[in-house]
Amino acid sequence: MTSELDDLFAFLRFPSISTDSRHAGDVRACAEWLLAKLSAMGLSAQLHETPGHPLVLARNAHVAGRRTVLIYGHYDVQPVDPLALWMSAPFAPEIRDGKIWARGAADNKGQMLAHVLGVEQTLRNHGELPVNLIFLFEGEEEIGSPNLAPFLLEQREALRCDVIAISDTGMVAPGVPTLGYGLRGVTCCEAIIRGPKGDLHSGLFGGVVANPATAVARLVASLHDADGRVAIDGFYDEVRPLETWERTMWSTVPGVSDADFQRASGSPELFGEPGYSAAERTWARPTAEVNGIGGGYQGEGSKTVIPAEAFAKLSFRLVPDQSPQDIMAKVSRHLQAHCPPGVTIEVRHGHDGKPYATDPHSRFGQAAQAALRSVFDAEPVLIREGGSIPIVQTFREILGADTLLLGLALSDAQVHAPNENFPLVNFEAGIRLNQALLSELASA
Ligand code: BES
Ligand code: ZN
Repeated sequence: MTSELDDLFAFLRFPSISTDSRHAGDVRACAEWLLAKLSAMGLSAQLHETPGHPLVLARNAHVAGRRTVLIYGHYDVQPVDPLALWMSAPFAPEIRDGKIWARGAADNKGQMLAHVLGVEQTLRNHGELPVNLIFLFEGEEEIGSPNLAPFLLEQREALRCDVIAISDTGMVAPGVPTLGYGLRGVTCCEAIIRGPKGDLHSGLFGGVVANPATAVARLVASLHDADGRVAIDGFYDEVRPLETWERTMWSTVPGVSDADFQRASGSPELFGEPGYSAAERTWARPTAEVNGIGGGYQGEGSKTVIPAEAFAKLSFRLVPDQSPQDIMAKVSRHLQAHCPPGVTIEVRHGHDGKPYATDPHSRFGQAAQAALRSVFDAEPVLIREGGSIPIVQTFREILGADTLLLGLALSDAQVHAPNENFPLVNFEAGIRLNQALLSELASA
């Protein structure tokens, strides 16, 4: 295990924060480390330039008649702020309490490297893999994969595969093998509200002009009704209803009761769309969220000012069969229609990703279940995920292949937050899971 851990620690030390241009060199250095690792294992590996961060690709020698499996992962990570809340430095990985602590430990470096190391061990022990393998690793997942779809279109022949596997999602509870068969989509925007040409004294102008911060608050408040349903016209029109078998099955999944969600969230009480459990709301219902809101004085004490500008950063999680474009058009219309008088509004569209769902009982789904069952010695649970991996539906559209989500991150993994962590046992299990998965898929 020491050499595997050495590799993981080396991988985790790169501050490969894709959204921050100051880290572009670190993202590239991380890609180059990965390239060297894959080449040293005997795979044919290449770095592909994009207008953004590079892609890393690797393959074994393909043999006609064997299954082709594409394993995707991302080597970029989210920013680390607020830095003060980390118990150890985010890019100085450490083991405490049986867990690896570092930014990217779970999302996604630990989970993705487990696949790489699983392949390394198989090659070392058997000289070859049971399948034709394609590793596709990108450095822009956390910013919405802006350059991956064009690459898939351009390389669709070289990337032709029977099935795709990803470990970049959750495991419902320690030791409970979890197969994900759905992801939410997402679409993001920023609303910028402008009022006076500059900040104004609130005594001299208060009461005679509209306050942009008040306007932002009213707009944000207009997104939901009092019960927590999204109040945008037509928002739920294309939502595929939950299947009865899913509701029944999910009600028995350990670790995802309403009480579990409340504990994991640390909120005083749960709140959201009535009529659904917390798991159903996060896995199969769409939402509107305010990710940031601001404007006006943020310093100590008070300052009597009317800010010239205020903003809200919004995102919407989507489920099949909603489309990001359609929802963003409805959101824009809603924001324009609900913008209070006396200010102007600009809506800037951010990145987006389509929702995804597949059949967990397909023959590849069953192969994934068999692999999970053998590694964890327990019956796998079948879930959808609340998070998004925007490229997954695009894989289906361009490559014609479905994706299996073999999640290994626990609910307290702190992904995107301070003190991200990944249990050592899940890292080790991930390495074995890769081996079991490839052998099951070979004969599926
Ligand atoms: N690995 C996550 C998605 C995830 C985490 C799914 C846990 C299920 C359980 C992925 O790296 C991620 O964070 N995706 C972003 C995509 C967005 C930036 C377009 C997300 O979901 O916010
Ligand atoms: Zn992430």
